[in-house]
Amino acid sequence: MTETNPAGGPGDEVLLNSRPTVAVGEPLVVLSDVEKYFGELHVLKNINLSVGRGEVVVVIGPSGSGKSTLCRSINRLETIQSGSITIDGSPLPSEGKELARLRADVGMVFQQFNLFAHKTIVENVTLGPVRVRRKAKTEAHDRAMELLNRVGVGNQADKYPAQLSGGQQQRVAIARALAMDPKVILFDEPTSALDPEMINEVLDVMIKLAEQGMTMIVVTHEMGFARTAANRVVFMADGEILEESDPESFFTDPKSARAKDFLSKILTH
Ligand SMILES: Nc1ncnc2c1ncn2[C@@H]1O[C@H](COP(=O)(O)OP(=O)(O)O)[C@@H](O)[C@H]1O
Ligand SMILES: [Mg+2]
Repeated sequence: MTETNPAGGPGDEVLLNSRPTVAVGEPLVVLSDVEKYFGELHVLKNINLSVGRGEVVVVIGPSGSGKSTLCRSINRLETIQSGSITIDGSPLPSEGKELARLRADVGMVFQQFNLFAHKTIVENVTLGPVRVRRKAKTEAHDRAMELLNRVGVGNQADKYPAQLSGGQQQRVAIARALAMDPKVILFDEPTSALDPEMINEVLDVMIKLAEQGMTMIVVTHEMGFARTAANRVVFMADGEILEESDPESFFTDPKSARAKDFLSKILTH
């Protein structure tokens, strides 16, 4: 194993099990007593979760348990009915410029990559920084190329999304999120839509980010990723957080019946 640079940067090696060397800092994303309904349906129930700077939290749980709604609420793509969510000490703004700035601070990577089909790869990564961060075009372009190289798709820069594989498109989506210099990145099942042979190329990029100290909330059932990169696993069912522990304890010794049942299904799957 080689030494990692704690500040991170291009060229860092992908190291396994180096996660504990990244110190978790003060709370960056804090949810307190969050309640969310869709009409009558109670989808987030008394959610309390604090994610520290540099921390990687994996959110796991059955379909319909509220994982996507949790991510979307943190990015204010959904509004909550009560409780509070703060990012770096500031409550979520409700609209306008403040909201745009918050969205820029909270990166999001979705299952469906959501790249603009009629823009090239490099244009997809340049758009946000120019429009929202008001970066100069040449500067944004140089940074986009640096990030595309970092995720291993620099040579695809002038192609259109449909010309890339799913794994490549998802790595572009990660580069696009990074281009905004976010404080935290939310990943909602980033590998679920990928063919199996492309999953690792995306997970490797995510592991590298984790090692470089990026704060990440990751909805995924990829246990390898959780074990390698996560500080904490949060298990959700029916809108509630039922368990929170380190990955090894969660996977080897889940406490709740719901978690045991869920793990037995994904393990035999
Ligand atoms: N826009 C919506 N309107 C109404 N119900 C929704 C909406 N989005 C999600 N739901 C419901 O909220 C619950 C939680 O959904 P979701 O957060 O997508 O769960 P998960 O990501 O864990 O599968 C589910 O019962 C789902 O059907
Ligand atoms: Mg979901």
